[in-house]
Amino acid sequence: MSVPLFDLGRLGPEVDDAVREAALRVLGHRGYVLGSEVEAFENDLSAYLGGGHAIGMSSGTDAQLALLMAMEIGHGDAVISTPYTFFATAGCIHRTGAEIVFCDIDPATFMMDPESLRSLLAGLKRDGDGNLLSAHGNRVRLIVPIHLFGAVCDMDALGAVAADFGIEILEDAAQILGGKYHSKEGLKTAGIIAPTSYVSFYPSKNLGAAGDAGAALCLDAGMAEKLRRIRNHGMEERYYHKVVGGNFRIDAMQAAVLRAKLPFLDGWNATRRANAEAYRELFTAAGLLDRLVLPPEPHRDQSDSVRDHHIFHQYVIRISGGKRDALQKFLTDRKIGTAIYYPVPLHLQECFAYLGHKKGDFPVSEQAALETLALPIFPGLRREEQEEVVAGIVSGLS
Ligand SMILES: Cc1ncc(COP(=O)(O)O)c(C=O)c1O
Repeated sequence: MSVPLFDLGRLGPEVDDAVREAALRVLGHRGYVLGSEVEAFENDLSAYLGGGHAIGMSSGTDAQLALLMAMEIGHGDAVISTPYTFFATAGCIHRTGAEIVFCDIDPATFMMDPESLRSLLAGLKRDGDGNLLSAHGNRVRLIVPIHLFGAVCDMDALGAVAADFGIEILEDAAQILGGKYHSKEGLKTAGIIAPTSYVSFYPSKNLGAAGDAGAALCLDAGMAEKLRRIRNHGMEERYYHKVVGGNFRIDAMQAAVLRAKLPFLDGWNATRRANAEAYRELFTAAGLLDRLVLPPEPHRDQSDSVRDHHIFHQYVIRISGGKRDALQKFLTDRKIGTAIYYPVPLHLQECFAYLGHKKGDFPVSEQAALETLALPIFPGLRREEQEEVVAGIVSGLS
């Protein structure tokens, strides 16, 4: 039996009908750019999150770029992020002219390690005005931790470090829409924990558009206004440009499709969690837990609202001992879809060679890149398909 890594065709007729109706409505009124469809989606999204402002953008990448532009981050500034993630985060920082400063990840969670962040910041000097300076003399303005694979970063610990050094956090919430964080102050929603954030609606995301789309999120109304201007070439009044922005507008068609799909999101996230639970049972029964590491789920024994801590955008296991690549090939030959997120950490990417990093600079990220393997977890995945995946791994590792 073949098992796809992902299948968008299994969301069900109810979803297909809702999406078709939304798309036909837009084709009917022909209001393709901004307007009521975009406003309605933005309102629904911020209501879903339970606060803040949502500004629809053409992609998650453009949402991040617009946020950095709104914060006037550029030459002479430095932004801290992690090397083990999708390229977009570091790519946007580079495109503003700012320096990317990498901070290593926690080996258990794959996300920014608060202790590494603390020692990185503690090793930096301040200028005469009290600004923290990177090793290259750029002013450290922002920290961008990434909620990776559908789990939430340790925001209490990261927030405490950021506050100690007086630096703001921007959450990369591209992979976490609907995720909750069990903070010391109570239950919080990922994406509106820090003052600014962004999400991606790339089609394979838990809430996916019919193409590219994203949204910037922020708590401050003034910032929201700035972002709306920046996404539309810095205009408020047509052809009068207050600032330089870009064409970062979400399509009305995408906004309508996403609005139709949003009511299903919590159900899909719960299905992904149920699939993760099924994997745990199957891997345990197969006696594989000494040969691979399952994704960490610190709150899995608690109530469902707390278990929202993980929405399993990806189900990523870890296989040590140099066996990952051979296992992936074995599974591919058996027509079982898997993926490696991410094979080359960002500090070793060719385009960032100018930063002067070498192998060994961020060992935890480098190790993760060698050992992680994503398995099918999408809503609609069948029990027998999960059994096939686990049986394939049993054979592949024996
Ligand atoms: C962690 C992370 N950041 C940023 C992005 C960029 O989002 P988009 O693909 O919508 O531009 C993605 C999406 O793939 C992502 O996974």
